[in-house]
Amino acid sequence: MSTQGNAPDRAKRRGIGGFVKGGAPIVGLTAYTAPIARLLDPHVDFLLVGDSLGMVVYGFDSTLPVTLEMMIAHGGAVVRASARAMVVVDLPFGSYQGSAEQAFGNAARILAETGCAAVKLEGGEEMAETVHFLTRRGVPVMGHVGLMPQSVNAAGGFKVQGRGEPQAERVAADAAAIAEAGAFAIVIEGTIEKVARAITEAVPVPTIGIGASPACDGQILVTDDVLGVFTEFTPRFVKRYAELAPLISAAAEAYAGDVRARRFPAKEHCFGTK
Ligand code: KIV
Repeated sequence: MSTQGNAPDRAKRRGIGGFVKGGAPIVGLTAYTAPIARLLDPHVDFLLVGDSLGMVVYGFDSTLPVTLEMMIAHGGAVVRASARAMVVVDLPFGSYQGSAEQAFGNAARILAETGCAAVKLEGGEEMAETVHFLTRRGVPVMGHVGLMPQSVNAAGGFKVQGRGEPQAERVAADAAAIAEAGAFAIVIEGTIEKVARAITEAVPVPTIGIGASPACDGQILVTDDVLGVFTEFTPRFVKRYAELAPLISAAAEAYAGDVRARRFPAKEHCFGTK
């Protein structure tokens, strides 16, 4: 079947209508490549092609250098490899903060060139007008408040949000503004439980937590953290469900040993041998 013929069916499965507040917890994981998306797709409600790929895949120390072209390339790979989960692609830093028109142009490129169902952008009250502009023009938007990695320089690092009344009020006001502007769901990152709970109770759309407690309507984690691909540092809010780093290391060591000892390739791996 051609991609064209498949499109309406895919759009239905991937639509934002599945994001129901008050139902079963919504499950999300990040995906950046086709093989990982294919493995995760049957198990999650949505796959996020997060700009965390800048740190996870490209080795940058923040998400700031990530480009629109990177997001489109990885977004397209994830969409092609997923059959049922909704795919959301991040708008990278600098691609939407300039104006609502800039945001629309770049969000439209992401939707058209990847086939994803929605875009995600970071920001609170200051982005509400842009979210309104996008959603009124047919772009489904997932918001992102609390700890916002694209603001790492302004915030002075990756800091847990919501400690202290003024900050708690600001995060709550941000979430309320984005929901009011038409976001269909809001990621709350790195925020204390009391604030995440208050937001979840206050806004009419589902909240998706990452380091924001079980009070949220759903959860998302970075897949490489869940799989234990990194050995250096595991954030407190991550639960590892596998330890892949030592397995990958051992496989590479065994392969290198076999090549150096001329045990690989063996006869069964060769063509035209008797
Ligand atoms: O980029 C990302 O992976 C994200 C998640 C951490 C929510 O935004």
